[in-house]
Amino acid sequence: MKKDRTERIRARYDRISPYYDIMEMLLEKVVFSRWRRRVFDSLDGDSILEVGVGTGKNVDFYPVGKSLTAIDFSKGMLARARSKAENKKVKVDLVDMDVQDLHFDDQCFDTIVGTFVFCSVPDPIRGLREIKRVCKRDGKIILLEHVRPGGTLLGKVFDFLNPIIVKLMGVNINRNTVENIKRAGLHVLEEKNLFRDVVKLVVANP
Ligand SMILES: C[S@@+](CC[C@H](N)C(=O)[O-])C[C@H]1O[C@@H](n2cnc3c(N)ncnc32)[C@H](O)[C@@H]1O
Repeated sequence: MKKDRTERIRARYDRISPYYDIMEMLLEKVVFSRWRRRVFDSLDGDSILEVGVGTGKNVDFYPVGKSLTAIDFSKGMLARARSKAENKKVKVDLVDMDVQDLHFDDQCFDTIVGTFVFCSVPDPIRGLREIKRVCKRDGKIILLEHVRPGGTLLGKVFDFLNPIIVKLMGVNINRNTVENIKRAGLHVLEEKNLFRDVVKLVVANP
């Protein structure tokens, strides 16, 4: 069952990968790139893992002189990230991998980053537990995520629209990701609202 769901979401990202950057172009220019900069401005440590790298939109913000690894389970999205990194001469190890089943040793990364990822990971708590496992005990996990709004009415609108958005894009717009982060056993150190209570920057540690 979990495998079917994972395959469905993966196929959706493969399908939309050629159009993904165009679909988000306006939002990217107006707000996303500003938020991405905030995520990468607060990076510490030498070994960095990005999960759900997508088409590589964060490549522009990667710090130089660090060991960078980035994973995604969609070959289509990864291919785009690869050509972006090559064009910009950014050194990053791009790997086809599922965040729900990471093939890394325990506690091997200083910092783990994800931007707009746990809205689409089929089993988000399993994925969050995996990043907890591979993060060093004194390491940091930085997540930029959109979540279900707190207000009852808007929350209900998001619940209503969610199945349509999942079908089209593989993204859930009504997840309580901060709650999921806590349920996965991570400690939330900071939670900043970047756009109302819908877009959040969360810093956590294992
Ligand atoms: C909404 S996109 C965001 C992409 C990118 N992080 C960004 O900020 O533009 C979500 C990405 O997460 C990836 N993803 C979803 N579930 C995943 C999983 N279980 N393992 C690895 N990648 C996953 C998708 O393939 C997609 O590239």
